Amino acid sequence: MRKIAFINQKGGVGKTTSTANVGACLTMFRKKVLLIDLDPQANLSIHLGINAHNSDLSIYQIISGKRSPDEVLVKTAIKDLDLIPSTIELASAEIELVNTVGRETIVKFYLGDLIDKYDYVLIDCPPSMGLLTLNALTIVNEIFIPLQTEYFALQGVSKLIQTFDIVKKRLNDSLEITGIIPCLYDSRTKLGQEILEKIKEYFADKVFNTTIRKNVKLSESPSHGMPIIAYAPDSNGARDYTALTKEIIAQEESELNTEGEEASRFKEHAFK
Ligand SMILES: Nc1ncnc2c1ncn2[C@@H]1O[C@H](COP(=O)(O)OP(=O)(O)O)[C@@H](O)[C@H]1O
Ligand SMILES: [Mg+2]
Repeated sequence: MRKIAFINQKGGVGKTTSTANVGACLTMFRKKVLLIDLDPQANLSIHLGINAHNSDLSIYQIISGKRSPDEVLVKTAIKDLDLIPSTIELASAEIELVNTVGRETIVKFYLGDLIDKYDYVLIDCPPSMGLLTLNALTIVNEIFIPLQTEYFALQGVSKLIQTFDIVKKRLNDSLEITGIIPCLYDSRTKLGQEILEKIKEYFADKVFNTTIRKNVKLSESPSHGMPIIAYAPDSNGARDYTALTKEIIAQEESELNTEGEEASRFKEHAFK
């Protein structure tokens, strides 16, 4: 089971698009996936066709103790893709949680064992390093950083790494950065290629081989409430996110291999 937060304190870099589409693609490979929308803007929920029409279901109700996770959990139109949605109400949590005991682990506390029922839990974070993002970082043990392959891509990244180091030291020693996703890539421009090279210099083998190209279908799909594999399965966007998802699953297999024979025997058993 893997728990991954998609973080970057910059907005517009591809966090939500990647969370929604990696999540949907994972289900094509028979993974059971839970998506958690931790952004008060609720873009992920809207992207998956939830809360676009005034539903009041929100993770905010879970962390304020008003509803159980099961009551808030929704099934999306994609089989095996469940979602804990967000609404703008969540914005007040950043302030309300400040004086709460265990404020960085409150979301984890209230989610309880719900997350244990999935193969993958993916968390879409807001574009800030506030309390909601810190909460995400105490739930997961992996971080994916989507980066827009444009001039300011690496600006702010050192701050992000600093936050990661502090959280790892003080709150969650199992936390690792396990993937950098180059998003909104335009291979026709020299700048795009140069920035991609810079990203690879900085993050070395953490950068996925797949780059997510700029693709108009990817920008259209949220307004139709569908992930790209449902909205435009023949688009470059669908191809890129499928390729990325295969790489993500391959990480899982290479991890199992390093855990030795015991793990592979278990795997064989699990597929019987
Ligand atoms: N590869 C892409 N090609 C075209 N548009 C994209 C692509 N990735 C994201 N977008 C669009 O760019 C905007 C920002 O992406 P989003 O995933 O919402 O970023 P973030 O969650 O980091 O703020 C959205 O309008 C989204 O539809
Ligand atoms: Mg977003």
